[in-house]
Amino acid sequence: AAPTDHESETATISQGAVEKNHAGYSGTGFVNFDNVVGSYVEYTVNAAQAGTQTLTFRYANGTTIDRPVSLSVNGTAAGTLSFPGTGAWTTWKTVTKDVTLAAGANKIRTTATTENGGPNADKLTV
Ligand code: GCU
Ligand code: CA
Repeated sequence: AAPTDHESETATISQGAVEKNHAGYSGTGFVNFDNVVGSYVEYTVNAAQAGTQTLTFRYANGTTIDRPVSLSVNGTAAGTLSFPGTGAWTTWKTVTKDVTLAAGANKIRTTATTENGGPNADKLTV
């Protein structure tokens, strides 16, 4: 099926804020993770059928330090994602990961694993 955008600003956010002070985001803003371990953004992604799908996360990291997150799918750990520096908070790049989704609604959660929090999160495309 054609890819669908899931904007971070409409996802479930724990310890983060919707902001729009760095240009180049899609939709109406992006999520600024609080710079703490455990801040998260959880997207609900509908899959027509069970199987492998590629998750594409669009983000910015204006620092030179990675902002890794742990990934879970429907509450089950699904590895980690690296979000290295993009050069500026207004420079947005993508990171991809293949995961197995169930048929129907899937909860895709990205949780910051360092005291720096996650990157600024624009959207998840599936
Ligand atoms: C700056 C930037 C934020 C970013 C934050 C961070 O404050 O404006 O968008 O989230 O740095 O380092 O996490
Ligand atoms: Ca932040």
